[in-house]
Amino acid sequence: MLIVIPKENRSGETRVAASPETVKKLIKQGNQVRVQSGAGRSANWCDTDYLDAGASISTDTVMLYSDAALILKVQAPDTHEIKQYPRHTALVCQFDIYRYPHLALLAEKQIDAYALELIPRITRGQSMDILSSQANIAGYRAVLLATHYFPRFMPMLMTAAGSVKPARVLILGAGVAGLQAIATAKRLGAMVEVFDVRPATREQVESLGAKFIEVELSSEEKAAFAHTGGYATEMSDDYKKRQSALIAQQAALADIIISTALIPGKAAPVLITSETVAAMKPGSVIIDMAVRMGLNGGGNCQLSKADEVVISANGVTIVGQSNLPALLATDASSMFARNVLTFLGLLIDKNAHYAPQHDDEIIQATLVTHAGSIYFGNATAPNTAAPNIAVEIAAADPICAAITAVDSITA
Ligand code: NAI
Repeated sequence: MLIVIPKENRSGETRVAASPETVKKLIKQGNQVRVQSGAGRSANWCDTDYLDAGASISTDTVMLYSDAALILKVQAPDTHEIKQYPRHTALVCQFDIYRYPHLALLAEKQIDAYALELIPRITRGQSMDILSSQANIAGYRAVLLATHYFPRFMPMLMTAAGSVKPARVLILGAGVAGLQAIATAKRLGAMVEVFDVRPATREQVESLGAKFIEVELSSEEKAAFAHTGGYATEMSDDYKKRQSALIAQQAALADIIISTALIPGKAAPVLITSETVAAMKPGSVIIDMAVRMGLNGGGNCQLSKADEVVISANGVTIVGQSNLPALLATDASSMFARNVLTFLGLLIDKNAHYAPQHDDEIIQATLVTHAGSIYFGNATAPNTAAPNIAVEIAAADPICAAITAVDSITA
């Protein structure tokens, strides 16, 4: 079958969904691979690297998709791209599915679309888990970005010119990104404090040598956590009040805050209010990794702006870089591509034909459009794991609502 690798067209996206290494393996399995010229350039792979791996290179954007059985992308396509896709093709990429407004168009073209971020967090899914591989990179890169804006050292130093105190780093959210941020900040010599709503993260935080700070939980709140399957859920207003007071207190002492808090299927929680920022030290830095994931494109900090650096009135630098993995294009692409290659093991049979295993739990969880229908959020389709909250987020998010409105006008 013919697999096509287009060049990513979203602003700031440097990654590519297949590396020369994974292309070579796909060709060895009997597939043909066509790569759009320049697709790997930002990740430091030339067209000749893909040619050496056995792919063909297409410089013609119209011919690129002709006869494509499968398209591999990092970011989900816009309407212009979808219109170029052949009918009945398959598409594998990450969607940001709760906000993605073009599923109807994909279904209309009878495209089998697989959303990689919906791969279940089961043992077998680990080697395909783009959320983990990219969050790991993002956590590392967030700390390095913070050092760029922070006007002081990270480690403690004793020099002839006097001694320097270690930087105090506060990390909000100890998921995959947060844990990597802890490890990176510790390696640079910072003092690290961490807050997460999930009490289970304490052990992981402490094993990395950081201090865990927590909001006291009522017995009902403790019981509720036993049923969340490892993910955070939205907390009660009372909990949010206690949490806000604790974060405000710790933020005033921090030099750097890295915020990573996300709730699957919900808008990212606001943890750092404008008042909290106003009480922080001049020169301190906030890296808001949840930017774009909150309502109105914001993040965990009320003052964050997507892809902008905001300096508050009291001199706090708030960085809203929304695509941190793209800042480490080569490794991010290599890892993404390996995740995709493993996932394709469930879609391609040993004769190199498209043969999705529809009874497989991972396929059922990720297949979002099939045979003209939208599966995601549809309780009667196989993808029942996905709750019908895409609509809720789209309605509450003016940016998403605007895209959907434009879509329905142009459709
Ligand atoms: P995520 O990206 O969904 O969220 C990041 C972190 O933010 C989480 O630790 C969450 O508890 C925290 N958070 C949410 N609301 C918060 C609030 N109000 N205040 C402070 N923190 C808040 O999380 P990620 O990284 O995707 O991991 C989610 C779970 O999945 C974890 O339990 C992780 O260990 C697990 N996991 C399992 C894997 C597997 O078994 N294959 C692979 C990767 C992760």
